Amino acid sequence: MNDGLSGGYSDGDVDTNGSNNPHLSTLIETRYSRRQALTGIGAATMAVFSSGLLAACDDEAGGGGAVTSGTVSAGQNGQTTSGRAVQLVGTIEGGLEALGWEQVSGPPVTLANAGTATASFIAPAVAAATPLVFRFTARNNRADVQSATTTITVGPAVLSFNAVAKSLADIVTVPAGYTVSVLYRGGDPIAAGVPAFANDGTDTNWGQRAGDHHDGMYYYGLNTAGTARDDLNNERGLLAMNHENITENYLHPNGQTGNGTTVPRPEAEALKEIEAHGVSVVEVRRQNGLWSYNQSSAFNRRITPNTPVVFNGPVRGNAQLRTAFSPDGAQGRGTINNCAFGFVLWGTFLTCEENWAGYFRRSATDNANRSAREITALNRYGIPQGASGSYGWASVTPANSANTTYRRWNVSVDTATAAGGTGDYRNEHNQYGWVVECDPYDPSKAPRKRTALGRMNHEGAWHGQWIAGRKVTIYTGDDARGEYLYKFISTAPWNPADAQAADRLAIGDKYLDSGILYVARFDASGTGVWLPLVFGQGPLTAASPVFPVQDQADVLLHARLAADALGATKMDRPEWTATHPNGEIYLTLTNNNATLRPLNGTDAANPRHYNDPRGATNQFGNPNGHILRIRENGDNSEALAFTWDIYLFGAGSDLNAANVNLSGLDASNDHSSPDGIWFARPTNPSGQINPLLWIQTDDGTFTDQTNNQMLAALPGRTGDGGARTITNTGAGGATATQATFVGAAPGVKLKRFMVGPKGCEITGVDSTPDGRTLFVNIQHPGEGGGLANPTSNWPQSQTGQASGRPRSATVVVTKDDGGVVGV
Ligand code: FEO
Ligand code: CA
Ligand code: CA
Repeated sequence: MNDGLSGGYSDGDVDTNGSNNPHLSTLIETRYSRRQALTGIGAATMAVFSSGLLAACDDEAGGGGAVTSGTVSAGQNGQTTSGRAVQLVGTIEGGLEALGWEQVSGPPVTLANAGTATASFIAPAVAAATPLVFRFTARNNRADVQSATTTITVGPAVLSFNAVAKSLADIVTVPAGYTVSVLYRGGDPIAAGVPAFANDGTDTNWGQRAGDHHDGMYYYGLNTAGTARDDLNNERGLLAMNHENITENYLHPNGQTGNGTTVPRPEAEALKEIEAHGVSVVEVRRQNGLWSYNQSSAFNRRITPNTPVVFNGPVRGNAQLRTAFSPDGAQGRGTINNCAFGFVLWGTFLTCEENWAGYFRRSATDNANRSAREITALNRYGIPQGASGSYGWASVTPANSANTTYRRWNVSVDTATAAGGTGDYRNEHNQYGWVVECDPYDPSKAPRKRTALGRMNHEGAWHGQWIAGRKVTIYTGDDARGEYLYKFISTAPWNPADAQAADRLAIGDKYLDSGILYVARFDASGTGVWLPLVFGQGPLTAASPVFPVQDQADVLLHARLAADALGATKMDRPEWTATHPNGEIYLTLTNNNATLRPLNGTDAANPRHYNDPRGATNQFGNPNGHILRIRENGDNSEALAFTWDIYLFGAGSDLNAANVNLSGLDASNDHSSPDGIWFARPTNPSGQINPLLWIQTDDGTFTDQTNNQMLAALPGRTGDGGARTITNTGAGGATATQATFVGAAPGVKLKRFMVGPKGCEITGVDSTPDGRTLFVNIQHPGEGGGLANPTSNWPQSQTGQASGRPRSATVVVTKDDGGVVGV
């Protein structure tokens, strides 16, 4: 046995129990003769006397010729932990021939190379130390069978790697015993005939290249032939991923013309910037142990802000969606600022529109042409009168004057056009802020915007439990300071037969177009409730003093305003959610500042106010963020009430232990601004029983100590800590106390697994179903730099090249011994 452990072996003794004997039925199945079976029993029995080395029987029948005799050993007993690769090495002496290995007892595993003397397996998930017995068999030249057994005791999963140190180097660092390689970079061609990426700003045709700013990502298995869906294939699949934004400084030959402020913007520059946003689907394959992507796969696809989409759900066709492009309010163009995502069991990708509002321009006098309700909504969603619109795309004068793909980024009312908005783009902003369902297996299908999930800065859209007969639930954070956590509960109960349906988007129609959206209120008692966003209930009426609503579509279109009226709890930037197999929901709250979370503005669920200085610059508020945890009543995702605590507080290990570093972080796991969060897949030991939680940071406050990072954790349960009252300190030295609920300190169950290159955010993580290949996205290395002062050369720097423009990219991480990553 060789599991890479430097200790933990028990003294070798072959189990002398009679169970060493091959079962007769097993031997019959393997076409052994009865005489051989009896010989095998005799050989095993002799183990009692031979301390693990089994003497071969002589050929009792005689018959001439020398009979080979020898010994067989299954090696010493050993110990390991869930998810680790274990090698079984049988040894034979005296001219015996190895027949191979089989499992005798314990949770069943798959033995690789079982027909040889050296077999291997991945230790299964266990809740407590569990023996697995294996038998090694050999035979002599008269086919007399001999065997020996070994016992491998498997313990529960641990974080079996040594934490990587904080780092400011321009490289992705992973623990010893792991290998990282670059798979799929921004600009890489994903259609036949598209030239390789020159990476000098001259590249065009981003609609057929990997987009920029890789973000949320999921691996969708393909069959070995590469023709159809196969969820469990570990060697061939599709990566669907978001391309959230761009690092515009590195996209053009000499940066943006006029530094992006000269108008009109050149059309070619704007087109490149637009097409570098969106989603990509790309086929990836493992061959000869190495992963690569297939440039010419028929599955490859880009969805950009210009790709036709359709609206589904209650807001489809609403007057407030109508534009010159979509006079009936049922179609739209594209998706933008796609951040985190959701996966659903029927095999689609839910891409989420996050900071979409910033792209829109609005004239400085537009309020004069808007109703009071419209002005309230535009301000609430971040498009005030005079908004300039990121990147100035609306300023482009297109070569084709009928091309409105630039014009539409200006949502100012054109009074020369029809009052309803079908002659201009006054409603274009209402077409964004949705969860958008894409079928990664069918590039011909237009994405569907699922309006029943509400309109906000959707960070992600992660499911709750999948239980037959219970409704489907989707949790979605609205990422801005002081925004809310939402939960959608479908009308239709989950039917597992839908998981493999051929028309995946039709299944999406069934579960995602009808249901109720709720928003969370977290109470000081450590409990909370889900408040329904239903027209006519509570304050959600035409008489609402906060925001009068007209119907259910109006509520969903203005979900933030509805949540305001309901008194939901304003959170410290709700980012990703992740669901533990026990049904608990983990929510990253990445950070907040003193303006929006002042000393006396804390609450139990957002309890801290402190300073994390960055050099000489004070940073008051909650600059390091936290991870909150929800246990739905009855452990049922359909519940409308829950308990909660705070699983983890981000902090530097140098910060005050009593009031800031509440999770007791040390140099092996201190971090700031958790964002991406994901439980390992349940199809492998790292995602079973006590699954691994991956945590990714998007931080700008702790980056004086380290580049952004990814940690691995083995969390406990909601309530495993206790109530605590902390003392917060504001900028002037004033203090205030705040009661909250703090989860058990993680200790060695939280370790830093990866540190990214300079200027990056780490966001997006998934694995193959077996957990032995991890895909991780590195977003915007070199952010903050430019062509004259590049701050990163990654990914070139990963292989030692200190030149070339930085690029977002997907990396592959594998464990050198073939084990499950992280455990
Ligand atoms: Fe796109 Fe909230 O991170
Ligand atoms: Ca994010
Ligand atoms: Ca982020």
